[in-house]
Amino acid sequence: MGQMTEEQVAELARIEGLLRARMEAVKPRRLKHSLNVSATAGDLALAYGVDEFLARAAGLLHDWDKVVPDDELAARAVQLGISFDAPVTQVLPLLHGPVAARELPDRFPDLPAEVFQAVDRHTVGAVDMSPLDMVVFIADGIEPMRNGEDIARLRTLVGEVSLPELFFECLAQGVCYVLQTRRYLYPGTLTVYNAYVERRGKRVAK
Ligand SMILES: [Fe+2]
Ligand SMILES: [Fe+2]
Repeated sequence: MGQMTEEQVAELARIEGLLRARMEAVKPRRLKHSLNVSATAGDLALAYGVDEFLARAAGLLHDWDKVVPDDELAARAVQLGISFDAPVTQVLPLLHGPVAARELPDRFPDLPAEVFQAVDRHTVGAVDMSPLDMVVFIADGIEPMRNGEDIARLRTLVGEVSLPELFFECLAQGVCYVLQTRRYLYPGTLTVYNAYVERRGKRVAK
């Protein structure tokens, strides 16, 4: 724990308790993953000058709605007016971020909106990711339970490349994984990918 206040440490413990109550019995591995993402997000926050408390809180909460069955998630998404402009059956794995982001503020009214934005964006990303958004997205991809050489390579980049560059590498890895496993590639993800390719090109051209 870096430079958090006692109150912030206590608040994280409270959130973790609620997460345990929600997940431990039904999705113990998902709970472990969420705790790992929180810890990894905290480390990334310290490495890149992002607020550690917000990173850890968003890490704990990012998969809050992974315990909700797909059909219910889809129904809630429709109810909340969340539209992906894609067949709902294909985007089911992406819904838990945006749905949770709209429901969590009522449960955690003391947390700032930026935490919920990071939860929202952890499944698809966005063309204008904030540093906190990037930290949570990256932590989700490289936490210790994620296996494989590609993930190991991403971990070696932490602190060596800029935060946007690390995000771009994680996003590109995610796109590769989707293609390798022959899953549905959400067009919005490609839009985000292309936006960062363009931005990168500009940086390189300077
Ligand atoms: Fe997720
Ligand atoms: Fe996750």
